Amino acid sequence: MKNLDDLLSEGVRGRRVLVRADLNVPLDGEKITDDGRVRASLPTIRRLTEAGAQVVLTAHLGRPKGEPDPKFSLAPVARRLGELLGTDVPLAGDLVGDSAKSVIAGLADGSVALLENVRFDGRETSKDDAERGALADELAALVGPQAAFVSDGFGVVHRKQASVYDVAKRLPAYAGGLVLAEVEVLRTLTGDPKRPYAVVLGGSKVSDKLGVIKALLPKVDKLLIGGGMAYTFLAAQGHGVGRSLLQEDQIAATKQLLDEHGDKLVLPVDVVVADRFAADADKRVVAADAIPADWMGLDIGPRSVELFAGVLAGAGTVFWNGPAGVFEFLAFADGTRGIAQAIVDSDAFSVVGGGDSAAAVRTLGLPEDGFSHISTGGGASLEYLEGKDLPGVAVLEGER
Ligand code: 3PG
Repeated sequence: MKNLDDLLSEGVRGRRVLVRADLNVPLDGEKITDDGRVRASLPTIRRLTEAGAQVVLTAHLGRPKGEPDPKFSLAPVARRLGELLGTDVPLAGDLVGDSAKSVIAGLADGSVALLENVRFDGRETSKDDAERGALADELAALVGPQAAFVSDGFGVVHRKQASVYDVAKRLPAYAGGLVLAEVEVLRTLTGDPKRPYAVVLGGSKVSDKLGVIKALLPKVDKLLIGGGMAYTFLAAQGHGVGRSLLQEDQIAATKQLLDEHGDKLVLPVDVVVADRFAADADKRVVAADAIPADWMGLDIGPRSVELFAGVLAGAGTVFWNGPAGVFEFLAFADGTRGIAQAIVDSDAFSVVGGGDSAAAVRTLGLPEDGFSHISTGGGASLEYLEGKDLPGVAVLEGER
C-alpha cells in the first residue's frame, strides 16, 4: 500500500491533503480526559505541514445520531490540537457545507483545519453504498482535484464508512504513519510471535469478545481473563457470582471454551467485591468461588494479580485489551494497575490494544514507554486479531 513517504516524495507543497484521523477521545463535559489519540495523530500532521501541505482533517467523536449535536462537537479536540501543534486549528462549523468551504479556502500552505464531526452526516455510517458514496464525493470535491487522501485513523479502519473507505476510492490514497505502524505491530502478533505468547482480555461482555477469544485460543499459549466478563466464566464453572455482571445467555458458549481450552485459559482466583456500584462502596476480597449473593465483583483480587503477573513475567509476547476491573473508581483499580505493571516489568514484546486499557495506562500514571506499543484502536486491533478484514486497510491495499 502507498504510504505517507510516497506522498511526500511526490510533493505536497500547496496541495490539499484530506487526513482521516481518529480523534475520538473521552470527554468529561468539554474536558478531554485522555488525549492519547490526539497526540498519536500529530506526527503525520506535522510531516504534512512541514512539507507545505494544506491539511484538512476529518474525524468523528462519539456516536451522534447522524445530525449535528453540540454534545459531540469536535471543538475541544480542535483546541487541544492547536495547543499541541502550537498553532491555531480552525474548526469548520460543518462538514461539507459553506463553513467548511470557507475555512479551506483560507488555508495557507503548512496549516491545518478540522472539519466538524463527520458523523453529524448520517451518510457517513450508512449501510447503503450509494449514500456513503455521495458523501465521499462531496468530501473529495471539497478538497479539489489536486488533493490526496491520507488514512491515519487506525482506530476506525474496521469501519466501512464514507470518510474511511469510500473516500479512499475517490482520491489518491496513502496510509499514514500511524496506520502503517499499527498494522505492522499486529502483523507481528499474528505472524510468528515470540513464545510464550500471553493475551490478557478484560472488559465487560463475553459476547463482544467471543469471536476474538475463539480465534486467539489456538494461537496463544495462555489467555488470561479479567474484567466483567470473567464472571460469566466463573458462572460457567458452576460458581455463584452474586450481583456481578453476568451474561446468562453466554454461559453455554463459555463452558464449551473452558472444556476445550481449559489448559490455556487462566481465570481470577479471587475478586474484590463491593456492596454497590460506586467509587466509595464497601469492599472486600473473597475467593472467586465464594462471591456473596448480595455483592458484586468490581476487580480481580491480589492473588489473581500475582497469578497473572507470574504468567506475564515469563512471556515473550503479550497483548492486553480490556481493564481487569472498574479502574475509573480508584478503589477498584488495583487489578488493572497490577496487570499493567506486570507487563511493564516483563521483557516481553508488549502491545496494549487501545480503548480503555490504553486510557488506563495513562490515567493510572504508568510509563507509556514501558510498553512496546500502545495501540490507538481497541475494536480495530481485536477485529484484526480475530482475522476479520479491515475495510479501511483493504481499500489502501489496492481494492480500488
Ligand atoms: C473507537 O473509539 O474505538 C473508534 O474511534 C471507533 O469508534 P466507533 O466504535 O464508534 O466506530
